[in-house]
Amino acid sequence: MSEIHPVTKDWAERAWVDDAEYKALYARSVSDPDGFWGETGKRLDWIKPFTKVKNTSFAPGNVSIKWYEDGTLNVAANCVDRHLAKRGDQTAIIFEADDPNEPSRHITYRELHTEVCRFANVLKAQGVKRGDRVTIYMPMIPEAGYAMLACARIGAVHSVVFGGFSPDSIAGRITDCTSEYVITADEGVRGGRKIPLKANIDAALEKCSGVKSVVVVKRTGADVPMKPGRDVWFDETAKGVSTDCPVEEMGAEDPLFILYTSGSTGKPKGVLHTTGGYLVYASYTHQMSFDYHDGDIYWCTADVGWVTGHSYVLYGPLANGATTLMFEGVPNWPSVSRCWEVVDKHKVNIFYTAPTAIRALMGAGDEPVKKTSRASLKLLATVGEPINPEAWEWYYRVVGDSRCPVIDTWWQTETGGHMITPLPGATPLKPGSATQPFFGVKPELVDSDGKVLEGAASGNLVITDSWPGQMRTVYGDHKRFEETYFSTYKGKYFTGDGCRRDEDGYYWITGRVDDVLNVSGHRLGTAEVESALVAHPKVSESAVVGYPHAMKGQGIYAYVTLMSGEVASEELRKELILWVRKEIGPIASPDVIQFAPGLPKTRSGKIMRRILRKIAEDDFTNLGDTSTLADPAVVTDLVDNRQNKK
Ligand code: WTA
Repeated sequence: MSEIHPVTKDWAERAWVDDAEYKALYARSVSDPDGFWGETGKRLDWIKPFTKVKNTSFAPGNVSIKWYEDGTLNVAANCVDRHLAKRGDQTAIIFEADDPNEPSRHITYRELHTEVCRFANVLKAQGVKRGDRVTIYMPMIPEAGYAMLACARIGAVHSVVFGGFSPDSIAGRITDCTSEYVITADEGVRGGRKIPLKANIDAALEKCSGVKSVVVVKRTGADVPMKPGRDVWFDETAKGVSTDCPVEEMGAEDPLFILYTSGSTGKPKGVLHTTGGYLVYASYTHQMSFDYHDGDIYWCTADVGWVTGHSYVLYGPLANGATTLMFEGVPNWPSVSRCWEVVDKHKVNIFYTAPTAIRALMGAGDEPVKKTSRASLKLLATVGEPINPEAWEWYYRVVGDSRCPVIDTWWQTETGGHMITPLPGATPLKPGSATQPFFGVKPELVDSDGKVLEGAASGNLVITDSWPGQMRTVYGDHKRFEETYFSTYKGKYFTGDGCRRDEDGYYWITGRVDDVLNVSGHRLGTAEVESALVAHPKVSESAVVGYPHAMKGQGIYAYVTLMSGEVASEELRKELILWVRKEIGPIASPDVIQFAPGLPKTRSGKIMRRILRKIAEDDFTNLGDTSTLADPAVVTDLVDNRQNKK
């Protein structure tokens, strides 16, 4: 058990809230949500102020979530325009390119305003109207932020697809939300390597129809084919438009964005977030969890293709008038000191990253960290997966020189913002624990029958009441929304995570209890990898499970049964790995493929994943009752032929 790190006096004094204030405010937030969130909602500029605050129901068959429903506002006005009077000349975005020799860019709020308006007018010139879905497939460059804010400005709904996803994955997402517009770049650059973004869009558009226009931003200047009548260069169109663009007055419950995320079954779901509650929650959590104050230089390393990039690179910080750093590259290129060099270069005060990055950097030793100053840092934070106490302590001791609290934020694409997190002035830290619920969040642990567990216990994590940042629906499929999140434990939001609560009431997330993998902090459904594998002509069946992986958190272990007559070989193994990369994207590459003549199934044909998970974890002692299997001999074969893991 590692030690508890108490809140220092200094932090308790300078932070927005200390322990007593957290407790009092938390109590109020859950006993009087209307009062609490009514006041908190005033942090935004409303065009028409709201008079109603919370109108939510988790009731089976009638799930409905509305916050601030009669208010109107615009997200871009809140993230940009309203800051112009006070901080027009302050840097809004620092851009640090992949190549450390490329000059960094400082974009002021005034420049951001011009760029967002220009981008909005380019979109209008393409025909984009309020309510239209716009797919954004971009590298981590400021233009990705301009594009998102431009959509928000004119009331269009963006769907950002992570630049590592394949043409197939893009096509599926374009089709699901019937998006007629795409914004991309010629190429991206990461870790010195080019990523063919426009070529991927071209390939995706071969597989889906309905896209009228593709706006292409220049990043590398690569010579990419442009399809006449469909593709336009951003630069050329921008020359002909004004830099003045009025904001669209949006209802608080009008959609802001769709973000696809993996579930335990089927294809990724379009998580829908709306305007008012989302921005209140993203900005408030950004301020409180990181104890953000005016003038802080803030860096979140997430890509805008993930929810962390939405809430904590872009919307939360900009709504708070912060200086947010956008980094195009990766933590270990050109060297493993890169993050700390960037921290020193831009005097970063708040640094937010994923445990997988911390573990990888820890593996390279202390020296690459110690040779940098990092004196500007005052707070460190993590997100995406459980952080093991060793990595936590290293982050705290070596990166933060035992000066900076480590804020472990637990949340999900669905929750819009932090749900369980320490507050640096209030919460004594326990390495590996996300600690305490954020204001307004009511967590509960239940057993598999739904019985509520009290006190110190382990169970499934549910949330019993709504908070403003909650997703509103699965785009186009409200039934799936209700079934996925509210049917397992009726009337409660089921997170899909397992969790332990200790004797001090601290929460320790133990990982997913459903068939969702978390590989290097990226969410991936086992079902997605399986369907990619069975799409290969030589594969008849496959089952995919996760196993503990020292760097990635979880690795991907795939059991594959071949079509009769096909022969297992090293070449085929490599081919299948490449195949999955191509079908989904590099993050989905299986770490291990085991060819299996048969998979363990019940007599009714259901694959017994429990057994497959145990074999993947090298745990053969307790395979449980295999007598219900249609063919128990299958298990012996699986154990005998298990694969070595990297
Ligand atoms: C996991 C990312 C432990 C969890 C913001 C959750 C975490 C899933 C933490 C959501 C954390 C995220 N500690 N586990 N601090 N943060 N997770 O939607 O399993 O990409 O359900 O959102 O990541 O992943 P998503």
